[in-house]
Amino acid sequence: MTLQQAQLATTATAAKTQIADKVAELVAAGNSAPTVGLVPTMGALHDGHGALFEQARAENDLVVASVFVNPLQFDRDEDYEHYPRDLDADMELVTRYGGDIVFAPDTQHMYPGYPDAPQIRVSAGQMGRVFEGASRPGHFDGVCTVVAKLWNILMPPAPATLRSYFGQKDAQQLAIVTRLAQDLNIDVDIRPVDLVRAPSGLALSSRNVRLDDHGMEKALGLSQALHYLADQVTNGERVDIDAARDIIRSHEHVELDYLEIVDPATLAPLSEELLARPLAHEALALVAARVPPVRLIDNMLLAP
Ligand code: PAJ
Repeated sequence: MTLQQAQLATTATAAKTQIADKVAELVAAGNSAPTVGLVPTMGALHDGHGALFEQARAENDLVVASVFVNPLQFDRDEDYEHYPRDLDADMELVTRYGGDIVFAPDTQHMYPGYPDAPQIRVSAGQMGRVFEGASRPGHFDGVCTVVAKLWNILMPPAPATLRSYFGQKDAQQLAIVTRLAQDLNIDVDIRPVDLVRAPSGLALSSRNVRLDDHGMEKALGLSQALHYLADQVTNGERVDIDAARDIIRSHEHVELDYLEIVDPATLAPLSEELLARPLAHEALALVAARVPPVRLIDNMLLAP
């Protein structure tokens, strides 16, 4: 089968026109309620992103990707500058997964006057100040600001509706963008996608390319610790978070930031009291650690 090359739009106007044209075609062909599946990304696409495209392709008439390395969500200039960028490879991956349109604006197009702009930004509130937000102040405000802009730019004209795909890989981001749509009344259906791992267990991430073989090995501590907890919960045992933390710390030069067990929807940490007994309900284990030169996050649902 030959796949049609995904179309590139570098401006909001071009993206809106391309989406409107496709929606008009679908309506003319008798589809009275077309759906558009949006996959927001920062590029450096890998098969973890691929899972989002697969699900979006299976569920929608039109699949749109956005590729934009959002400066507002980086707390370290070094991380922003070193973030891998390769639009040709990204276009190829989107095409391979059957995506139709790629919106890839430059920084000045998204934020005219940056870094003095944008003046008006979205706050992620308390949910944005814990875990990743505690380690990276302002990160989730930056995510909410860009995601709200992307939804506004790429919202298809009626009668089409918008669905937006987010990976469980970033569990806190998923919980926050769900609240963003609710709290700001943005008409978008949030669709969660399961986390994709390498055969070694390492969660696929664009940052992994900066790890050498030793780094990859050390990074495995994160998924090992999560599996350790998940097995305890499945076996009806009490969780031993300290032992799980030690699994990560046992790797040289790895700095554990946090490993906590939280409520999956609210991200509130489970009380000491709940953790003193075998878990009766599903919970989410969240972990972040620095495996030089990168910071990695991972998470796993713990199901009794
Ligand atoms: P990025 O890190 O490029 O990730 C884009 C989407 O891919 C996110 O929803 C993320 O959770 C998902 N993803 C990445 N690796 C995954 C994996 N191994 N398994 C499942 N899903 C995975 O997240 C962002 O970009 C940005 O914050 C963004 C939402 C685009 C706003 O700038």
